[in-house]
Amino acid sequence: MAKKFRFSTLLVHGGLEPGPAGATTVPIVQSSSFAYDTAEGLEDVFRGRQTGQVYTRIGNPTTESLERRLTILEGGVAAIATSSGMAAITTAVMAIVRAGDEILSSSSLFGGTFSLFRDTLSNFGITVRFVDPTDPAGFKNAINQRTRLLFVETIGNPKLDVPDIPALARIAHEAGLPIMVDATVTTPYLAAGAQLSADIMIHSTSKYLNGTGNSIGGVIIDQGIFNWNSPLFPHFQPFHKKYRSFAFSARARKLIHKDLGACPAPMNSFLMTEGIQTLALRMERHCSNALALARFLGGHSKVRWVKYPGLEDSPDHEVATRLYGGRYGGLITFGTGDKASAFKVINNLRLAKNLANIGDAKTLVIHPASTICCDYTLDEKSLMGVTEDQIRVSVGIEDSEDIIEDFKQALE
Ligand SMILES: Cc1ncc(COP(=O)(O)O)c(C=O)c1O
Repeated sequence: MAKKFRFSTLLVHGGLEPGPAGATTVPIVQSSSFAYDTAEGLEDVFRGRQTGQVYTRIGNPTTESLERRLTILEGGVAAIATSSGMAAITTAVMAIVRAGDEILSSSSLFGGTFSLFRDTLSNFGITVRFVDPTDPAGFKNAINQRTRLLFVETIGNPKLDVPDIPALARIAHEAGLPIMVDATVTTPYLAAGAQLSADIMIHSTSKYLNGTGNSIGGVIIDQGIFNWNSPLFPHFQPFHKKYRSFAFSARARKLIHKDLGACPAPMNSFLMTEGIQTLALRMERHCSNALALARFLGGHSKVRWVKYPGLEDSPDHEVATRLYGGRYGGLITFGTGDKASAFKVINNLRLAKNLANIGDAKTLVIHPASTICCDYTLDEKSLMGVTEDQIRVSVGIEDSEDIIEDFKQALE
């Protein structure tokens, strides 16, 4: 039996096949299409009688290497890499729901997902209802006969609440429904999909998985545990019959991913695969730096409030500790009382960059209410945990003393 390697070893070696001339990094196969010697050979691939690549929109060897690695890291059965995290969510959701169906979603979401759910999907006849993800009973009561999917983030961005995902998964499965989990903020380093009992895992690979802020990407991982052979999902019947535990990934890849065309460029798949190798080291530092900064901010007289699940008095501390092994991620939010003082702090920062991203090696800040959430109503902002005085920090991997000194001088 092949040796079962541990997580950090898999980050470096998982899914990597020997490259040409002994290359140890995955080759960038910058080709739109792939030629076959015979018409029969190409037909066999199109009909699924042989595996092989035909066209980079549908699959590419560099991208496949990334997909193999992420499948292994999440403990799933298959993955589909996409051009962005939003493309991953759109593709995965469209593979499941049809006009007339409903999605029951966490109300604590990344703004782009909220907008996809509130505006775009509703224009196609799909209703999304938003529920507090930290209230499993509320989730259970909100399921109705039209519900086809539960959607939740591991740690809500930017609300930073921590839903009990295994509890929500139990509720979903008892109702015969799948649960899709956006784990961008936690990554498989804090918990793999298999540990969370999730059916489909989503990541924006643009963030911690890449880790350097050099490219945009996303991924969908099929955990292969949900039984799609159900009267609630008649459109999965042919896929379940042919692909069994791969039914979801087969439908998502062969229909939606192919038709939407949101494939990654091979170069970006290469950058993601390279970046992932250092995930464990970086996440350790993101988590320890974030805890140090959260404690510093919590003790500063100009800071009115701090939110970080790693703080012992956080309402999310118990669930986060249980699910994520005593690590709480790299995101913090804090408030200074009003928008003007929040802007002043951001403008005074020298090291931290003011930009719309998370998960970079560098420390990043943003004022969500006036930027990524500026189009939402006050009620929607409050649902998403966005306040006028809030600053979101994506704590980087610099020396923690330098990060703290930067915030200290900016506050003072
Ligand atoms: C939790 C979460 N999910 C999804 C996305 C979307 O990812 P992308 O920007 O790669 O489309 C983001 C982006 O910030 C995010 O924070």
